[in-house]
Amino acid sequence: MRELTTDADVRAALTDSAHYSSRPMGALDRVLIGADPPGHAPVRRLVAAALRATAVPDDVIAAMAGELLAPALQHGKAEAVADLARPLAAAVTAAQLGVDRAAAGDLLRFGDAVSAVADGQPPDLAAFAELDLAVARWAASRRSCPTGDGISIVVTGARGQAGLKPREVRSLVRLLVVAGIVTSARLSAVTLLAVATDRELQARVRARPADAALVVEEALRRDPPLRFVLRQAAGETVACRLDQANRDPVAHPDPERFDPDRDEPHLAFGAGPHRCPGAGLARRQAKVLLQVVLARTSALSPAGDAAWERDQHLQGPAAVPLALTPS
Ligand code: HEM
Repeated sequence: MRELTTDADVRAALTDSAHYSSRPMGALDRVLIGADPPGHAPVRRLVAAALRATAVPDDVIAAMAGELLAPALQHGKAEAVADLARPLAAAVTAAQLGVDRAAAGDLLRFGDAVSAVADGQPPDLAAFAELDLAVARWAASRRSCPTGDGISIVVTGARGQAGLKPREVRSLVRLLVVAGIVTSARLSAVTLLAVATDRELQARVRARPADAALVVEEALRRDPPLRFVLRQAAGETVACRLDQANRDPVAHPDPERFDPDRDEPHLAFGAGPHRCPGAGLARRQAKVLLQVVLARTSALSPAGDAAWERDQHLQGPAAVPLALTPS
């Protein structure tokens, strides 16, 4: 497999869908992430509109984060991945799609099952069967009785304006269920880790909460949750290495240094026609979680080493033990 590793090469490939087909992404879904022009555009418009119409507001995300944080404040400690980042990503996804909050745990399991397969592990057949059943159930209920939630908009529009077949509609819903959870959770975790381990940065964001957005951006740049995306060019599979392009010293001088004041476009969300339509939501989740944690604590520090996980596709902390002092 050929690899592209510089910012310029990866950007050029991702913006040139005439020569770089998204077909190899079809293992995830063939109607959007694995589709090429001209079929891609109407589906993309539909999904982007659904995500815009059902955007979860910051104050709702803050309330979810506050709820998750409450037991941690009581005990003075938290494991940021399991206690905060992952359940928040699941709750936000559930709210956006219109899935019962009680099913949020299932969404995490589905996300994990799909990313394990992307990493070459044998499929968790039970989880996949449950995912397919849940998607079919959600799609059928919204088709007969649309509610205005994310699934309803996609299901209604996919049959109408995009002319998709029922199987394709289910593929799209499935993509929306799994695309944002594990990735957003990793971003939130790496953002919290950056601030917990750097006192100066923490003091700065405590004094100027708006700077949380800059920390999120630099976390995305230095440690993009998704390490690569695939394309096919001249019959050959090409790995576009987002992780390496984001540490390309030409685009990002002194690339290992965590510097929230960089103003350098990065590739964590891809580029071109397939650029992540959930980028805004993922950014807001990580930013709001960090702001809520800092607003409700007077001190935040690591309570042990963070376990860093680098799978084939994804990277980020697997566990971030934190000590918190309530404010
Ligand atoms: C930090 C979190 C996230 C990261 C790092 C991420 C990364 C990416 C990347 C790199 C792509 C481009 C794939 C390609 O070019 O082949 C992509 C596409 C996509 N992402 Fe995200 N994503 C994140 C969160 C989300 C969220 C929260 C959602 C849903 C609300 C989402 C939904 C999608 C969808 C539907 C696509 C396919 C778009 C298309 O093919 O036109 N993602 N994501």
